[in-house]
Amino acid sequence: MSNAILVEELQKRFGSNTALAGVDLAVPEGSVLGLLGPNGAGKTTVVRILTTLLQPDAGRAEVAGIDVLREPDRVRSLIGLTGQYAAVDEYLTGFENLEMVGRLYRLGKRESRERAGELLERFDLADAANRPAKTYSGGMRRRLDIAASLIARPRVLFLDEPTTGLDPRSRLGMWEFIADLAGGGTTILLTTQYLEEADRLADGMVVIDRGRVIARGTADELKAQVGGQRLEFAVTDAGALPAMVELLRPLAVDEPHVDEQARRLSIPVSGGAEVLAEALRRLDGHTADIFDVGLRRPDLDDVFLALTGHAAEDDPAAADKTPAEPVPVGGTR
Ligand SMILES: Nc1ncnc2c1ncn2[C@@H]1O[C@H](COP(=O)(O)OP(=O)(O)OP(=O)(O)O)[C@@H](O)[C@H]1O
Ligand SMILES: [Mg+2]
Repeated sequence: MSNAILVEELQKRFGSNTALAGVDLAVPEGSVLGLLGPNGAGKTTVVRILTTLLQPDAGRAEVAGIDVLREPDRVRSLIGLTGQYAAVDEYLTGFENLEMVGRLYRLGKRESRERAGELLERFDLADAANRPAKTYSGGMRRRLDIAASLIARPRVLFLDEPTTGLDPRSRLGMWEFIADLAGGGTTILLTTQYLEEADRLADGMVVIDRGRVIARGTADELKAQVGGQRLEFAVTDAGALPAMVELLRPLAVDEPHVDEQARRLSIPVSGGAEVLAEALRRLDGHTADIFDVGLRRPDLDDVFLALTGHAAEDDPAAADKTPAEPVPVGGTR
């Protein structure tokens, strides 16, 4: 299978700030890549380079086999982009916004209008089609933005945090829609802060931090890197914890973790429900102290925390970070 996106040794600096320090990516045709990383990791910078909005300092990038630096116009005709910040024209209606994008992609007037109608329907915006976009809610703008990136039926689609700001129901709808597109053969590169989103949609994942790839693989491979499952107990009296640890130590495959303040105990184990049953047998005299117990597998949030040292949506540096200036299509070339 050939790669719809290929990136080699991509580097980019902004002044003294290194945004990308040599990133490699390969996205097989028809697959979905989840590009994950904390705030400031370099995700948007990768997307902007691949969509010809920004030039790298070094390295190479191809989309659909075409070099993004040598033939940006050809690349642009084959891709769709939904940027991190909505790019709808406030004064045009939803319909006019989509029609305009169709014309920018050189679809004829009739086809632009047909596509606009179809997509407004598909994204639940038909009722608002003739209202100016400035009257749309945040979620409606986001949907309009994504609809616009699909007008010309792109072969390769870039979605930079496509569901940020959507309510849970709209997010589920968007996930279904992205999965449909992927099922239809569109190659998708998606950045996200929601690890559940990557878990649901992405075939492969690449985690970047400070402009470098720190992990790659399928969700299962990444979870396996972080370790297996754990037995977790919450107790009413922290005094019971040391005795519990000693009783359960024979079941542990790694050092138990005791949090006295939270009155919690976490024990790395292998095996399924039988290990839980065995643990409860061993704790016979202590069950009165236990108010919660469970067998937990690592999720992507655990992976993220283990890899980057902080949770996906919990970055203190994000608060004082000003967003990168939005660049109009073709603006930097
Ligand atoms: N136009 C710019 N001028 C100066 N610095 C920039 C510019 N664009 C990005 N940067 C810097 O490059 C680094 C990577 O930024 P980027 O926007 O790619 O991160 P990101 O992974 O998309 O983060 P987020 O999750 O917050 O969207 C950051 O340190 C950022 O401040
Ligand atoms: Mg970003």
